[in-house]
Amino acid sequence: MNLKIPFLMNDKPVAVVTGASRGIGRSVAIGLAAEGYDIAAIARSTDSEGMEILAAEVAKTGSQFFPVGLDISCTGWHKEVVKNILERYGRIDVLVNNAGVAPLQRNDILDMTEESYDRLMNINLKGPVFFAQKVAREMVWLKDHIEGYKPVIVFITSVSAALTSTSRAEYCVSKAGLSMASSVFADRLSREGILVYEVRPGIIETDMTIRVKDKYDKLINEGLIPQKRWGQPSDISKAVASLARGDWAFSTGTIFEISGGLNIHKL
Ligand SMILES: NC(=O)c1ccc[n+]([C@@H]2O[C@H](COP(=O)([O-])OP(=O)(O)OC[C@H]3O[C@@H](n4cnc5c(N)ncnc54)[C@H](OP(=O)(O)O)[C@@H]3O)[C@@H](O)[C@H]2O)c1
Repeated sequence: MNLKIPFLMNDKPVAVVTGASRGIGRSVAIGLAAEGYDIAAIARSTDSEGMEILAAEVAKTGSQFFPVGLDISCTGWHKEVVKNILERYGRIDVLVNNAGVAPLQRNDILDMTEESYDRLMNINLKGPVFFAQKVAREMVWLKDHIEGYKPVIVFITSVSAALTSTSRAEYCVSKAGLSMASSVFADRLSREGILVYEVRPGIIETDMTIRVKDKYDKLINEGLIPQKRWGQPSDISKAVASLARGDWAFSTGTIFEISGGLNIHKL
């Protein structure tokens, strides 16, 4: 059952980005605005310095900006939020499931708490999966009502979907789960003409990693990352723009790892 909202349809394509107020999500939203997408930007609050910065950057591109407040883990609000976006724009062409968090405290897996595990699962896995489900249902309907419609869904996971960190197991497990969710959506939605990709960032310089900056500076200097630098949010947003543009139209379900070579198995 979809919302089937017969509202005025935007001429321009529309991108919905979760976790858009800072870091990777903000860069992705600005990148997609520059590509000609009107933007619906989701974060827990619409009233933040980050959202103001984003609004100003999107305005520079000439694209429209619609800030939406949603805690992605509150699945009961998803339907309302999708409805609001469709009321505003009439269409959703691209969804970037980017919102995500690290554990509040790094604890050895032997000391991991259920509270932290549940928090990570709800924000990093359950929220994005059910939000993508709601949007995908609308995309299935929209594809029969918009000429030239080319819907794309991107899941931002992490190298932690495959690499272990014994002090943040719940993060690794949530991202491994999201990686599988991306594959399952890609499989199911291929018959609907909706392309689904996983973008798997490595170590990216954002608020999320600021607390462990010294640790990673040292590891990077010691050669952990073959390309010997921090990733930047723009490394990710350029990849997402390319996926949205349709440059990878025969590659649904593919994992794009953007990690400076962290995935190379070395002897
Ligand atoms: N930085 C890295 O090294 C790295 C590496 C691999 C993967 N990633 C993944 O990339 C994504 C973005 O990370 P980042 O480094 O850009 O993080 P960040 O700088 O901490 O930004 C996180 C974004 O998510 C939003 N957010 C947090 N909790 C939310 C919730 N419950 N509901 C809705 N929005 C929420 C935040 O907005 P508000 O606080 O305003 O709500 C913010 O916009 C995450 O999924 C992360 O796991 C990051």
